[in-house]
Amino acid sequence: MNVRVLSVASEALPLVKTGGLADVVGALPAAVEPHGVKMTVMVPGYPSVMRAIGKGRQLHAYASLVGEPARLLSARIGDHALVVLDAPAWFSREGNPYTAGDGKDWPDNWRRFAALGRAAADLAGGLVKGKRFDLLHAHDWQAAMAPAYLRFAPPEGGRAVPSVMTIHNMAFQGWFGAETFAGLGLPRSAWSMHGVEYHGGVGFLKAGLEAASAITTVSPTYAAEIRDPQFGMGLEGLIVSRGERVRGILNGIDTVQWNPETDPEIAERFTARKLDRRLRNKRALEEEFALEPGDGPLFVVISRLTWQKGMDVLVEVLDHLVGIGARLAVLGAGDAAMEQGLRQAAARHPGRIGVLVGYDEALAHRMQAGGDAILVPSRFEPCGLTQLYGLAYGCVPVVARTGGLADTVIDANPAAIAAGVATGIQFGRIDRQTLAHAIDRAVALYGDRDEWRRIQRNGMRCDFSWQASGKAYADLYRSLIG
Ligand code: ADP
Ligand code: GLC
Repeated sequence: MNVRVLSVASEALPLVKTGGLADVVGALPAAVEPHGVKMTVMVPGYPSVMRAIGKGRQLHAYASLVGEPARLLSARIGDHALVVLDAPAWFSREGNPYTAGDGKDWPDNWRRFAALGRAAADLAGGLVKGKRFDLLHAHDWQAAMAPAYLRFAPPEGGRAVPSVMTIHNMAFQGWFGAETFAGLGLPRSAWSMHGVEYHGGVGFLKAGLEAASAITTVSPTYAAEIRDPQFGMGLEGLIVSRGERVRGILNGIDTVQWNPETDPEIAERFTARKLDRRLRNKRALEEEFALEPGDGPLFVVISRLTWQKGMDVLVEVLDHLVGIGARLAVLGAGDAAMEQGLRQAAARHPGRIGVLVGYDEALAHRMQAGGDAILVPSRFEPCGLTQLYGLAYGCVPVVARTGGLADTVIDANPAAIAAGVATGIQFGRIDRQTLAHAIDRAVALYGDRDEWRRIQRNGMRCDFSWQASGKAYADLYRSLIG
């Protein structure tokens, strides 16, 4: 029998995306379907979502949901069921889902995402006749109140429903002042160490982690790392206390969207056997970033410009990168100082460094197809998707040895080269010297054309589809519904 899962998140492709969370939430329904799971995705009704679904079909109307009127609408994304929380007071705001035009978090984010959690818990618990769910799956802090409501304030007359809480990024925890507690509609008993209370306020992610039947994160290494203060960011004790209930399930990639053999966005399609065809993509990319052709490798970076992603350290090594004959194309947006550092480096090295500040999905495809290597110098990386797209496109990943980066790239050390299994380059510490050394290694390897091709081919032959992880999620769901 099919297992029916309600998957709740603040973003999902193709409706709304700010990062890898959207890729994963958007891909999960198809990933688990072959394993007997029917998944419905639930997201807030931001303007982009409301435009995409048209009218939808009303499932339920709240006169007041955490203080404002709201409706649950049913629609479809592709072949899969979708539920949208239409609450104009909170979600009818253009632009970034979390921040106002000035880049600051919306001050009522606690209310907006408490509403998402409350409505998801109601729906999973049986609010709508004819819509039954066996399990609720919540992603990140924005959805984390859903398991908390199921546990501490379940819908009246509803069924007990188990829940899974997935951590895509421990750095974002959704902490709000104690005064918000009264607005959450929770019983007083929920204000406790094993409830929503966290450092004298309300912790959304903390509450979800306490309440969920099981916890997952998006790679095995990150699942181990978050037991440590450096990565657990205050929640390491809770993670350790939940013991065996915490596990890492590696993200897959959408192999239809990200396939160099069929990609409609790129100048010339290619395969592991026809790597020569990448050259046209490289030339096109050089043109797009106003780079001069050269003998050294063309590195690319496709990233949020943040401390997590090590973009401050990247800025520090750019003169070195150019000095040893390499070139770089960057696509990213985020921290103003990092944007400026990159722009200044581009101005110092015209024709060698090109920077585009912004967000451009199609360009991300062209960069993976035309770049020789993708740099991912993250300080921490729960999974990371750009290195996986790089592997699939023969754009060799040069990555920090952390989280999902450690799990997905095989470093080209002498043993791996001798065994013919290397797929990229890994480096340890995130500092200027170590990153510069990794870039040196990449440039040297690139000079050995046969070895470089072997590394590209090894990566392209790896299977990072959702096949294995889709089954792992399905198995986990089944184990929880008993
Ligand atoms: P994170 O979710 O932490 O940002 P991931 O590597 O998991 O990191 O996912 C990032 C996703 O966002 C990838 O699909 C990547 O291609 C995409 N991306 C990041 N920055 C940009 C950008 N400026 N333009 C287009 N796509 C981007
Ligand atoms: C987060 C993480 C990233 C991960 C993505 C999808 O944004 O930073 O490492 O790949 O979620 O799970």
